[in-house]
Amino acid sequence: MGCQYFDPCDHGADTFTIAIPKVTFGRGCLDEAGARAQGLGMTRIGLFTDAALRQGPYFATVMDSLHAAGLDVAVFDEITIEADDASVVRGAAFIADGNFDGVVSLGGGSVMDTAKASMLYGLHPVADFLDYFAPPLGAGKPIPADLLPHLACPTTSGTGSECTSISVLRINDLKTKFVLANPALMPQQALIDPVCCASLPAMVVASTGFDLLCHALECYTAKAYTRWARVDDPNKRTLIQGANPWSDLAARKALEIAGEYLDRGVNDADDTQARDQLMWGASLAGMAFGNSGTHLGHALSYGVTHLMQDITTDGYRLESPFVPHGISVAVSAPAIFRYTAAAAPERHFEAAGFLQADLQGAAAGDSGEALATRLIELMRKTGVPNGLSGVGFGAADVPALAASSARQVRAIANSPRETNLVDIENIYAAALSY
Ligand SMILES: [Fe+2]
Repeated sequence: MGCQYFDPCDHGADTFTIAIPKVTFGRGCLDEAGARAQGLGMTRIGLFTDAALRQGPYFATVMDSLHAAGLDVAVFDEITIEADDASVVRGAAFIADGNFDGVVSLGGGSVMDTAKASMLYGLHPVADFLDYFAPPLGAGKPIPADLLPHLACPTTSGTGSECTSISVLRINDLKTKFVLANPALMPQQALIDPVCCASLPAMVVASTGFDLLCHALECYTAKAYTRWARVDDPNKRTLIQGANPWSDLAARKALEIAGEYLDRGVNDADDTQARDQLMWGASLAGMAFGNSGTHLGHALSYGVTHLMQDITTDGYRLESPFVPHGISVAVSAPAIFRYTAAAAPERHFEAAGFLQADLQGAAAGDSGEALATRLIELMRKTGVPNGLSGVGFGAADVPALAASSARQVRAIANSPRETNLVDIENIYAAALSY
């Protein structure tokens, strides 16, 4: 591939597989929903959204378009802002009873992730909710391939879930989130209308923007796919396969978009160019990390949402305690990339450049510091809390945070630098404030 990062390794993979949905992007494209659903052969649709969106104009646009195409629609809106197992159990019953031949989702990551998992559990019920999750948490039961066609319509510029085969769910009894990942969960089509971002509050744009930035950054700096083990059965090759030449392409562009437009898009709701670009960047980042996996940024965010203290966030209609996903990722990011840079300095140096870090006079050995400095600058400009202390944590919380996040085994193994429990504690300690 002409790039040292992907040099062959003994017993390492020599092949990668890419999957993305058919993507439609453009202002006003939500009114294609009817034609798109029809094209997927849908006649009776289960539409997933949340109760707030259901009162708003984007829902009306989609419903009008579906009805104009002569399609029959039933709506499910009992979705919490952090997709959880309880929402999925309800959504699965909706799917099981609905006799649908297609699913449309309209919302942020929670809505899309709930739609994906509800199809799985509704069409293929299991005795224990955790059965489909990977060991040691779950039984690793194979996920059947025959879910319904899914048209995903994102309304925030962050998760990229419309382009991934991943569903992130909070397991309420365990108070933390785990990932379902399987090609069967990927939507067939994504309909991405940046008009949806026009009315988002600044802190929602900041949180989702840091989510997209970190998806791209973790993707670009992930362990090379050639350092993951070769698989015997091509059908068992996971898309969480490490950085690869495809994910590089999309991640690089997403980083450039975040570097150029994140500050502008957060701080000026009328800057439609910036907000449109962030919407495109979020989908690109989804197409990137959906084919590589994330690493420590996301792994360490789960400890934060697991143990979050009494904290509220402006712009979210929610009771405390609540740390939005993108903020939970951002608060540890500078400390994480200072740590991982040592293992892949050139990659971190390039990524810092894409984000418009000041690299004057810097060498690859300075890349962790340059990247961290740029991330901190963007956090300050966009009102993101200053590290873990900004979301209510102190030094005494570090061991519990680390123990919680250490359970995200696959993501931690996708880090370019080998990372054990003590390393995670050290990263959290360095992430208390900047
Ligand atoms: Fe994320």
